[in-house]
Amino acid sequence: MIESENFIPGNSENPGKNKSESNAVCFYSETGETRRIAEFFAKETGYPLTDITEKGIAKTKVKERETFYYDNLVLCFPVHCQNIPGLVRDFLSVSKINNLTVIASYGKMNHGNVLYEVQKKYRKNIKNIVAAAYVPAKHSYITGDTSFNDICVPEQIVKKIKNPSGIILPKLKKNPLANLFPKLRSRTGIKIYKNGDCNRCGLCESSCNYAAIKNGVTNNKCIRCLKCVKICPESALSFKPTFFMKKYLEKKKITDTIIYI
Ligand SMILES: Cc1cc2nc3c(=O)[nH]c(=O)nc-3n(C[C@H](O)[C@H](O)[C@H](O)COP(=O)(O)O)c2cc1C
Ligand code: SF4
Ligand code: SF4
Repeated sequence: MIESENFIPGNSENPGKNKSESNAVCFYSETGETRRIAEFFAKETGYPLTDITEKGIAKTKVKERETFYYDNLVLCFPVHCQNIPGLVRDFLSVSKINNLTVIASYGKMNHGNVLYEVQKKYRKNIKNIVAAAYVPAKHSYITGDTSFNDICVPEQIVKKIKNPSGIILPKLKKNPLANLFPKLRSRTGIKIYKNGDCNRCGLCESSCNYAAIKNGVTNNKCIRCLKCVKICPESALSFKPTFFMKKYLEKKKITDTIIYI
């Protein structure tokens, strides 16, 4: 059980300083895998489903962001370069949560230690972590990889969400190099190409959460999430891993679902 002296969470009777959303399933998902996991939890719990990028997190300056209050929150996000994605860190830093269930999807390569990091780094904002899991999913960079299957997520997690009590997450081993320039690593490992079918419709620019593309040409803010490649209506964008990334992606896969309840 985590106790935080200063934190009085919002709930349906006490909405707190700002708007309390009480119970919710929130997710961050660029290519749809984590969204599928979040939809599973929304269906099982009956909580409303929200994309955290629709909360203005991505396009608002840190100081101007409002605080979000939750009584019971299920938060689903993908592991990026063995780390918590920046937009999820931003969301957690402006959220006050009574009971958090945290689900990290990963592309079967390496999930790092992100669940422990959520508990440790945001302990002032989270009263209890009630359940957590690493769930294998389709890797954004592997064509034809298999998607998340909801039989991977046992009923116990849903039961625990409905009867919450705090748990302490273990610290797992993490490659010390994982924290070194993660965005640069993915940017140099994946190339994005534009073909002549681009009609400059602007959809990639308006959809990108990182202001990293204009008319199909990426800039150095790009994290290689591949959302633009997926959504381009003209199929004008494609990607290719570089030699070293290809070798890395050929490594033996981990397919474990690890659950903490
Ligand atoms: C920038 C980036 C970095 C990633 N880093 C890792 C990683 O370190 N380990 C891993 O197993 N999967 C990694 N993945 C794969 C994603 O975690 C996985 O494909 C996830 O299902 C994508 O979720 P989404 O479709 O909801 O965005 C990475 C994907 C991206 C786009
Ligand atoms: S979404 Fe596709 S067609 Fe539209 S501007 Fe981007 S690359 Fe070009
Ligand atoms: S430009 Fe980069 S960050 Fe933006 S959607 Fe495309 S791959 Fe993702």
